[in-house]
Amino acid sequence: MTAQYPGYFISFEGIDGAGKSTHIEAFGHLMHERFPDREIVMTREPGGTSLGEQLRNLLLNAPMHLETEALLMFAARREHLAQVIEPALEAGKIVITDRFTDASFAYQGGGRGLSIEKLNELERWVQAAPQGGLIQPNLTILFDLPGAVAEARRSQVRAPDKFEQMDLDFFEKVRQEYLRRAKADPERFHLVDATHTKEAIWDELKDIEISL
Ligand code: TYD
Repeated sequence: MTAQYPGYFISFEGIDGAGKSTHIEAFGHLMHERFPDREIVMTREPGGTSLGEQLRNLLLNAPMHLETEALLMFAARREHLAQVIEPALEAGKIVITDRFTDASFAYQGGGRGLSIEKLNELERWVQAAPQGGLIQPNLTILFDLPGAVAEARRSQVRAPDKFEQMDLDFFEKVRQEYLRRAKADPERFHLVDATHTKEAIWDELKDIEISL
């Protein structure tokens, strides 16, 4: 059960290179125009707090055991929820995060093979809301793209971090886990075909219905 808050929680997800970062800021501006009386909080994972950004640095660069990686992702998330997300939702703000727990299921679960049971357990622990239920995004915008297309896009723009150095098979598994989750929860997920042009994707994002 998803915990109820006066605010609204949106996450952006997708494999590296799918293009979520291209649109997230403009989407924040769009929310600001559409809901002028609501404050918009833009944030990201891993990160979003001072401790979380330090953990991000480790997570994206240092090799580590898979379970250490999952625990640190959720440790950063615990801090993020306590310091940023929960207070903002409590105060009626719109929170937009670049990645959240679906990324842990997709990367640590689908990609690296950590059991879904362990991830469920961490999720239940870390996202428990004080009033009961789990803190979950109200809306998750998933940018979906074949692994090979994403890889070609990535190679044009940046030096790869630890995750971005993984092979095609890894990214296909990450993608499949994202798609499995989207299929299991169609109410929450909005699936974007990221092979479309930037303009077409933006038109689609503008049309997503959000009722606060
Ligand atoms: P990303 O959000 O893609 O940022 P940038 O655009 O700056 O590269 O990078 C975060 C990386 O962390 C990405 O490769 C996915 C990974 N990640 C996980 O493996 N598990 C998680 O739970 C989260 C939040 C991210």
